[in-house]
Amino acid sequence: MKLTWTFTFTVLLHFCCVVLGADKLQSYNVDTSTITVSGLSAGGAMAMQYHVAFSSEIQGSAIFAGLPFACAKGGLTSANLCMYSPGTVIVSNLAKEINDLSSANKIDNASNLSGKKVFVFHGTKDTTVNPTAGRKLEQLYQDFGAVTENEYTIGAVHGFPTDFYGAACGSSSAATHYINNCNYHGSNIAMNYLLGGSLAPPASSAAGQLLQYDQTEFGGNAISSMDPTGYVYIPTGCQDRTRQCKLHIAFHGCQQSKTNLNDIYATKTGMIEVAEANNIIVLFPQAAPNILAGNPNACWDWWGYLNANFLNKDGAQMKAVHSMQLRVSTCEPSTGCNPSVTEPPVTTPVTGGPTASTGAPGECGDNTVEFRPFPGDCRYYTLCACSANVLLECASGLYFDPAIGKCNFMQLVPGCDAKFN
Ligand SMILES: *[C@@H]1O[C@H](CO)[C@@H](O)[C@H](O)[C@H]1NC(C)=O
Ligand SMILES: *[C@@H]1O[C@H](CO)[C@@H](O)[C@H](O)[C@H]1NC(C)=O
Repeated sequence: MKLTWTFTFTVLLHFCCVVLGADKLQSYNVDTSTITVSGLSAGGAMAMQYHVAFSSEIQGSAIFAGLPFACAKGGLTSANLCMYSPGTVIVSNLAKEINDLSSANKIDNASNLSGKKVFVFHGTKDTTVNPTAGRKLEQLYQDFGAVTENEYTIGAVHGFPTDFYGAACGSSSAATHYINNCNYHGSNIAMNYLLGGSLAPPASSAAGQLLQYDQTEFGGNAISSMDPTGYVYIPTGCQDRTRQCKLHIAFHGCQQSKTNLNDIYATKTGMIEVAEANNIIVLFPQAAPNILAGNPNACWDWWGYLNANFLNKDGAQMKAVHSMQLRVSTCEPSTGCNPSVTEPPVTTPVTGGPTASTGAPGECGDNTVEFRPFPGDCRYYTLCACSANVLLECASGLYFDPAIGKCNFMQLVPGCDAKFN
């Protein structure tokens, strides 16, 4: 009996089930004049690359132990030079790259960088990316009129600085995923600078939703050296879409992708606690290792392993992340972000739900695919498909709505009181 059930469930997983894959990235009520980016190391290089390419849309960036735009355009040899001998990098050459791409309309007009805020962090003990790289990228930003702030005095090795997680600040953090406890809340200090200086202190816990979403519909796949799944954090205050929220895109470093760490970069850098307290939705797009592409460590492409477009708006990773940005920040104009008509999040299978029988296999007809209410508890519902009845749970804050056959905002489902809030 158990075997049969497992078998049926596996068949469902493989053939029937949109519902059981990563959810589709949803649209939220976002103030598009508040979009910022950040990243560590290769993710810092990617954040600058993304900011420069989409400078008309991105208001600021926080670059931790990162590298300047176009520094590694010549490939791995240049990448090594940028990392170990950045003193030899000539900033005016990189500025010319930006101007040329801007004139060719391969990136947004670089004049958009003027007045944008940039925060640069580089630890004094970083031997993976020499701290001079931080000065060089700050100089490059300043050449285009960006307003910069920096922190170059902390004795940090190569890693993301936090005040609650990781190896000691000056010790290798290879075992703690390149995150260091420097008694310095990097996410909070950087975001506070980028967003005007009056952020609320980070929440004590990130009580919102950290969701996984499908990256493949945006071109995130093995060919682009991206994971099929990304993470997005939706603060409690942004879930019903009645309030306009801010948006931030955080790029992990090499060896920090979902393949390497699951959600550690999303949960241990302090970013989601800042986000929770200040209604900032955070996208954590995920790269993935691709040995054939020359990217065994799941680095974002900042040296051209995919192709020569890697740093402009036509780069596969750049395009994919930009499509995610547009999706998450653009409510359907026809809905005006009204929750009653906005598509609610898709749901995930239940692991620890009620144990009541959900109907014997066979109760659902062979050709049935139907969502049904679960008697007595509006949080749950069942999928009748391929003669099996599978128990599913609506995302937090949602109830199954028999009128539309899917989960909906709880206040819109009559007959279910809010006792499960
Ligand atoms: C970029 O913008 C500036 C200022 O608006 C303008 O003078 C320049 O012609 C633009 N360049 C291109 C390539 O569109
Ligand atoms: C910003 O970039 C866009 C797209 O390249 C361009 O149309 C616009 O003129 C730029 N704005 C400024 C102030 O340069």
